[in-house]
This record gives sequence, structure tokens and C-alpha cells, in this order.
Amino acid sequence: MSNAALHLMDHPLILHKISMLRRKETNTKDFRQLVNEITLLIGYEATRDLELADMEIETPLQKTIGKGLPRQICLVPILRAGLGMVDAMLSLVPSARVGHVGLYRDHDTLQPVEYYFKMPPDVADRVVIILDPMLATGGSAASAIDSLKKRGVKSIKIINIIGAPEGVSVIRNTHPDVDIYLGALDERLNENGYILPGLGDAGDRLFGTM
Ligand code: PRP
Ligand code: URA
Repeated sequence: MSNAALHLMDHPLILHKISMLRRKETNTKDFRQLVNEITLLIGYEATRDLELADMEIETPLQKTIGKGLPRQICLVPILRAGLGMVDAMLSLVPSARVGHVGLYRDHDTLQPVEYYFKMPPDVADRVVIILDPMLATGGSAASAIDSLKKRGVKSIKIINIIGAPEGVSVIRNTHPDVDIYLGALDERLNENGYILPGLGDAGDRLFGTM
């Protein structure tokens, strides 16, 4: 039976930085920097339960048993906004491969439309960590998870910075085996599918396209 869960962050640094991220005065440069810092902190929590294996190593003085990570990792940013989280995760797991899922929400239906999907050939054997700052209706995340499972991926986690209760429920109900690492759980969605209080459009704020 799956023991996946919603892991809601309570670290003071994460909560402080998310408040700075939300502020409408925060400019593109600071927004990018904050996304990077927040991802680093959530990423630390999201990698806490990675499998460990004993491995023999030799220090300058003697042989000993150290610890290693037997399972390889694949980071999967959801385009566009997930791209802003990649560098932070690569600084934690530098040997990870990076796959990309291109998804946008249709403005009228809010349904996700997939336009790109490129994974390393051995993705099915890796622990996949999906990256997207926003979990709103949950449609984009659910679609990315569906596509990864169709390619045989068994172990999936997702890191989001801000989520709505609606999106969390969708992932918990449709993919109960997926662990969600969430910086802040907000109040609700507005009629246009934006998270309230949220931070606005993450992709636009990250890339300065608003
Ligand atoms: C945003 C965000 C998520 C998605 C979340 O992307 O980065 O991918 O919306 O919404 P959902 O949970 O309702 O699916 P958007 O569709 O704006 O695309 P963009 O990053 O290319 O701007
Ligand atoms: N995507 C965003 O970028 N922001 C939201 O509030 C919802 C979806």
C-alpha cells in the first residue's frame, strides 16, 4: 500500500521567502532568486527519504563503509515555470538527468495541453521529481504524472511552491502514490483558475513576460 502524502512545509525560511515571492513589488530578478532559494529548501525535504545503500570507500587512513544513493534521479520541470526550479535541484543532485514536459493551460477550459515531452531513455528506472511552482486545478501536474506513468515510471514526487486545495485533492485522488512537497497551501482558486492569494502568473513573473 502507498504511504505517499502531502508534505506541507513549515520551515520559517521557506515561509518568509514565499511571502516575498508573493509581493507584487518583487521584480523579475528577485522573483527568480527567491524561486531558486525556496526550491533548494523544499528540495532538501523532498530528498530526505531517498534510498541509501552501503558502499565501501577508502579514506586516506583506512577502508570504511559509506553511504551512497543507489537509485538515479530524473528532474522533470513543467514548462515554463518549472524551469526556474531546475538549477536549485541540480545543486542538490548534480548527477540527475533532466526531462522536460511542455504543458500550457487552455485559457478557456483550463485543461492542460501537452506540446513537448522529452525524457532520458532510462526514465522508468529513475526516481522522478516533477518541478512546478504552481498547483492550481492540478490538471497540469496530473497530466505530467499520467504521461510519466505511461512511460513506466514508478517512483514520482512533485515539488510545488504554492498550491490550492483543489489541486492537492486532484493529485491525492488520481495519483495517491505520488508524494507532494508543498511550500504553502492557499485558500482557493478564482473564477479564472488562479490561486488566491497566490502570486499571479508564475511563468510571466519568472520570465518577465507580463
Ligand atoms: C502554470 C503553472 C502550472 C499550471 C498550474 O502554467 O506553471 O504549470 O499553470 O495550473 P493547473 O494546476 O491548473 O494546471 P501555465 O499553464 O500558465 O503555462 P506557462 O508556465 O507556460 O505560462
Ligand atoms: N498558474 C499560475 O502561474 N498561477 C496561478 O495562480 C495558477 C496557475
